[in-house]
Amino acid sequence: MSKDNIVDASKPSAGRMYDYYLGGNHNFEVDRQVANQVLSLMPFLSKYIRLQRWALQDIAKELTEKRGFDVIIDFASGLPTNDHIHHKVPEGTTVIYSDYDPVVVEYTHEILANTPNTYFFEGDATRPEELLEKPEVQKILAGRRKVAFVLWGVSMFLADDGISHAVKYLHDWAEPGSCLVFNAQGSDVNLEDPAAQKIKKIYEQSGSALHNRSLERYLELLQPWKPDDKGFVSLLDWHGFDALELGKEDIASFEPMGGGYGAYLIK
Ligand SMILES: C[S@@+](CC[C@H](N)C(=O)[O-])C[C@H]1O[C@@H](n2cnc3c(N)ncnc32)[C@H](O)[C@@H]1O
Repeated sequence: MSKDNIVDASKPSAGRMYDYYLGGNHNFEVDRQVANQVLSLMPFLSKYIRLQRWALQDIAKELTEKRGFDVIIDFASGLPTNDHIHHKVPEGTTVIYSDYDPVVVEYTHEILANTPNTYFFEGDATRPEELLEKPEVQKILAGRRKVAFVLWGVSMFLADDGISHAVKYLHDWAEPGSCLVFNAQGSDVNLEDPAAQKIKKIYEQSGSALHNRSLERYLELLQPWKPDDKGFVSLLDWHGFDALELGKEDIASFEPMGGGYGAYLIK
């Protein structure tokens, strides 16, 4: 994603387009125009994006209630509105969000005002060292390194070397038993599909190259993290996530997109 676009309201930003797909109002006319072009090619995209976003709530519960983490560090968070992680974690859980878009960071001050144990910093997901070395973050963590990282809803926008650097750094940094929740976006997209090709072009022209990869390629890039015994699970089957909201036609439309996949990877 081009960083120039994110602070320039005359150019579309993929992050603000995402907010528009979710029905939010933190987007500009230029974002809505491009997003509407994409929606005209893939009308089910808003539902897909909601599915991806809602999975975060399930992840928040799984990480805290089932896996016992009390620190969650989320990269490329987008806006921490009321469908995001901090709304679903037990009291006392520390949630550190980050995003490289200064406009998103600015909005979060209003959204998170007076929310205990929840923080938001500007940071590039492909350079997690910059976030983790911030003195404010070190103070919050107070030496805790058995943590859960979340990298969700963004992998298609990240180049291979960005992903592999980030996950290797996090693996070295974290204590054994730490977890990385990762969303493999764009795997199983049928690139022969004319709508998918047009969408790829629209994003490219608006400054955000989309990286489509197979699940095997994602697994290579994610080394040395290892998925838990469930492996990568389609978002349509995400931990009993209620797909009933989706009609048969929606499910059929999702298939070429694969629904996207997510996994809990363990150090
Ligand atoms: C599609 S939204 C996903 C938000 C959230 N993680 C979710 O799954 O709902 C993508 C967000 O990633 C941010 N982003 C894109 N590339 C990034 C990078 N290299 N570092 C940090 N944030 C990034 C964008 O600014 C945008 O807010």
